Amino acid sequence: MADDIKILVVDDEKIIVRSVQMILKAEGYDIEGASSGKDAILKIEQKNYDLVLTDLMMPEMDGISLIRWLKENRPEVGVVILTGYPSQETIKEALELGIIDYIPKPFTPAVLLDVTLRAIDWLNKKAAIEEKPRKDEFPPSMIEEIDRVIKKYKHKPGSSIPVLQRCQQIVGYLPPEVQKRVAKGLNLSPAQVHSIVSFYSFFTMTPRGDHNIRVCLGTACYVKRIEESLNKIKDELKIDVGGVTEDKKFSIEAVRCLGACGLAPVIVVDEETYGAMTPKKVTEILKNYA
Ligand code: FES
Repeated sequence: MADDIKILVVDDEKIIVRSVQMILKAEGYDIEGASSGKDAILKIEQKNYDLVLTDLMMPEMDGISLIRWLKENRPEVGVVILTGYPSQETIKEALELGIIDYIPKPFTPAVLLDVTLRAIDWLNKKAAIEEKPRKDEFPPSMIEEIDRVIKKYKHKPGSSIPVLQRCQQIVGYLPPEVQKRVAKGLNLSPAQVHSIVSFYSFFTMTPRGDHNIRVCLGTACYVKRIEESLNKIKDELKIDVGGVTEDKKFSIEAVRCLGACGLAPVIVVDEETYGAMTPKKVTEILKNYA
């Protein structure tokens, strides 16, 4: 239930706080706002939030300091960054601190909702990884191959991404059990591995169908009504974003920008880009893959 999730949005720009509150409240989330890192800490000390959405550049106490405070004092709280100027270094630092994701400003309501849903899913899976160790569900040969990859890269610095890429090739996706195995093998925390997996779009935590459909929810596509085409795809395939059809033929993924804004609204099926998308075109395109 959305109203079980308590969210705090932290930004010195009042308009951002107000619009995030408006969008998430309309979806039933329990959301409050704070105008600075210090204000956020005061609120967090009095109430248990599940998720904090925070800006990085704020006067007095910046977002990274707030994230550090959270990791020391409330490690169970998930963090998503809202930022206009994400430098590689800052994002890297934030990832190492275990953030879930970041949303570049300006963002559309669809992107905000998508990232919020994925962050909640992240928190649920993280709890599952940490609290309920599950029996391996993969064939022993798969486990052996995963362990061989881990062993090969174990002492090489910065090897988490190549190891995860190889594991994804072996298993087809990166479920919590595999992430946990990689974390243990590389001496990382499950949260660190989980951050990396959810941050890079080439990783997937759910199995993909034979044909993966990526639907862009970025600004250019959103203003050109990509949602109408997305709804059509969901209706035709009878699955939601993140789902796979029963025959495993199709899966749908939502992304923020496919780098083809001039063709907006855009979807990509496997490696093929389709621009100027409309619900009518969706039906024709899907027929080609049936
Ligand atoms: S916003 Fe859709 S391709 Fe860039």
